[in-house]
Amino acid sequence: MSLDREQGGDSGFPPAAAARDFDLARSSGLPLAVDRSGRVDFLEGLPRVEPQPRTLDQMRSVLYNQTATGPTVLYYMYRGLGWPEDRERISGYDLRYDLTVLVPGLVGGEYVKTAGHYHPPVGQSDAGAARSGAERAPAGAERAPSGAGRAPAGAGRAPAGAGRAPAGAEVSGSGAGVTRCGDGDGGAEGLLTYPELYQVLSGRAHYLLQKPAAGGPAGAIEDAVIVEAGPGDALYVPPGYGHVTINPGPDPLVMVNVVYAGFTSVYGPYRERHGAVYYEIEENGQGYFVPNDHYPDPPEPRLGRPTDLGVLGLRAGEPLYAQLVARPRAFAFLSRPPGDGPIP
Ligand SMILES: [Fe+2]
Repeated sequence: MSLDREQGGDSGFPPAAAARDFDLARSSGLPLAVDRSGRVDFLEGLPRVEPQPRTLDQMRSVLYNQTATGPTVLYYMYRGLGWPEDRERISGYDLRYDLTVLVPGLVGGEYVKTAGHYHPPVGQSDAGAARSGAERAPAGAERAPSGAGRAPAGAGRAPAGAGRAPAGAEVSGSGAGVTRCGDGDGGAEGLLTYPELYQVLSGRAHYLLQKPAAGGPAGAIEDAVIVEAGPGDALYVPPGYGHVTINPGPDPLVMVNVVYAGFTSVYGPYRERHGAVYYEIEENGQGYFVPNDHYPDPPEPRLGRPTDLGVLGLRAGEPLYAQLVARPRAFAFLSRPPGDGPIP
């Protein structure tokens, strides 16, 4: 069976099969590889998950240049992957393990990115999945894993290069903080929203997080954070923050996330404001963050750092998949989030 028949179809992949350019086995803990087109290879009998492609046309409302041309598909979402027994175990805790591949490149001068979304307040979950992970957790000991929207050019630019923040400057790598949702576009004031945990497997990521301002005008953002992350780096998206992932590198960006399985992401506010509070564009080979003037008075973005997994009770340098299968209860902070947590 050819790769094309096996993984092509309606997924949006280009027809030509390529070699396995990036081996993800070590970084993911699963027999996976990805090629330069963004196609993921499921190896050693790992059940293939059909990707949900996000096309350029679906993304137009959140782009810096809404009439831009570019790749047909900007990214692929593989939801709920893993070995069958592991998937059952993970879903038994109301969690989900996903993989996303962002192709490299520019769309109208802007780096390929995800659409951006917020998470709903805790308790406003999909029907049938509102119980906490602990309540549903199976008994038993932990085990080993088996055009419009353009910002004025040149205005208020912050040079790219996130993650190279000067020591001690505005960065709180692991400090606790109150992370409740504001009353802006993202959700209801004072309500705690679900967090999320990411890990980069391959490529380079710029995560752009934004927190709606409590009590501010519609669309006001009180905190914008840019975090640069590379292979093995993790990022905890705290309650209250919306997030976009950008691929500023020359290779596909492959990342995984662990998230509470019982909610539906909230995309509307990003669409209504034509994207995140900043766009990352490239000019003359240099990346810049340009403010999105559909937001009132965007705050200066600060540079955050990847999350120290030890702060969350997890192990740095170990694939999230392995930890999730071995110790799913350690991820209960995703389904029953505390009122505080590490702010990037
Ligand atoms: Fe999310």
